Amino acid sequence: MNNVPLHAIAAAQHADPYPYYAMLRQGAALQYDPALKLWLASRAEVIRQLLTHPAAKVRPATAPVPPHLVATSVSEVFAMLIRMTDGGTQQQHKAWLQQRLSRLTTTEVQQLSWQSVQQLQSTLADKYQLAADHLFSPGSKSGAEPAQATVLNEFIRLLPVTVVALLLNFSPCQAAIAAVAIADFIACLLPDADARTISAGEQACATLLAQLRQTTTGADWQLANLLGLLMQSYEATSGLIGNSLIALFRQQLLPMAQTNPEFCLLLVHEVARFDPPVQNTRRFISADCEIAGVLLPQGSTVLLLLAAAGRDEQQYQNAEQFRLDRTPTENLTFSSGAHRCPGDWIACQIAAVAMEFLLRQKLPPLQWQYQNLTNGRLPLFFHSDQPLQASQGVTE
Ligand code: HEM
Repeated sequence: MNNVPLHAIAAAQHADPYPYYAMLRQGAALQYDPALKLWLASRAEVIRQLLTHPAAKVRPATAPVPPHLVATSVSEVFAMLIRMTDGGTQQQHKAWLQQRLSRLTTTEVQQLSWQSVQQLQSTLADKYQLAADHLFSPGSKSGAEPAQATVLNEFIRLLPVTVVALLLNFSPCQAAIAAVAIADFIACLLPDADARTISAGEQACATLLAQLRQTTTGADWQLANLLGLLMQSYEATSGLIGNSLIALFRQQLLPMAQTNPEFCLLLVHEVARFDPPVQNTRRFISADCEIAGVLLPQGSTVLLLLAAAGRDEQQYQNAEQFRLDRTPTENLTFSSGAHRCPGDWIACQIAAVAMEFLLRQKLPPLQWQYQNLTNGRLPLFFHSDQPLQASQGVTE
């Protein structure tokens, strides 16, 4: 891979996109990329303005539902998601969701996270015929080294969605089904989804709604937004766990890492700023407007580089330094304004438990590369012949 990302979207999966983001921050407040047909915003203050501007919407006015989904059964759910809509109804529905989430306690999220860790340990041990307490240990099964990275990837991918499903009162068995279904649902939202993927997405959507009906009574929009919790937590929280593991290697923190909740929470909070799993989001301009002195015409699209904002010196002192002693500040990794993530604290608690568990394991030597996603930064680990401390992303 080149040293400089090809463009702002490719940056999400680049080994080190942060010098490129720094260069963008030093340029104009909003820069137009004619090849991508996108305006780019990289400074925290400009991104904040966009996230609170009434003309900056989460969907294009001409396509409230992606065209490839319009004639499918997924479209109805999509159109009810607070993540995909703007305005008064969105705010009312979000208030309901936030109220429901506020009934959860940190202790409950931690307990269900540990329960899910144990559940996954036993499922993965059965699936790969490994000892449950030595899932990732090199040499735990002769000739099994390559499988250990696979087991690790699967553990990281499944843990957050399993926890959120349990928080929604799913049984462990329903949670396991939901973890598979949500992947199919998310896959069908991608603009290049083919007929088979869309059909699998419709099936998954029906399965998830049926499960939600068994555990909750509520209007269609409420069930759609509970499904939305599974969707929103899935990849982003897995990315936070994977990137926290990478931070341990890159920042050479393993020797001083502590297997206690306080250390792990500080770690994931700093990773959320320093190397976040959601690198960007978009806003669609619904009326001519001026932002940071730049005229944005109606119909234009802005790419908000949230990950660049995390390294903005105007926002954080010594922003390029990874520090576990920062006082927590508002983090644009979880957005701001009407669409700010209501699950940030849940994500951090799940990731902290995952790290506490992983730090107690004997991990195999690892390398990683980033998955091919447009806004997510999610590592995929694979087996390396090098010792763990020397591990590097292969794309470096
Ligand atoms: C590290 C993990 C996570 C990250 C980085 C993250 C990030 C974000 C971001 C950036 C947005 C807003 C996007 C925008 O403004 O365009 C968002 C929205 C949302 N997130 Fe999260 N999220 C994470 C985990 C979770 C979890 C665990 C849940 C649920 C338990 C959740 C629920 C939601 C919901 C429902 C929305 C839509 C809010 C709205 O549009 O008003 N997220 N998240």
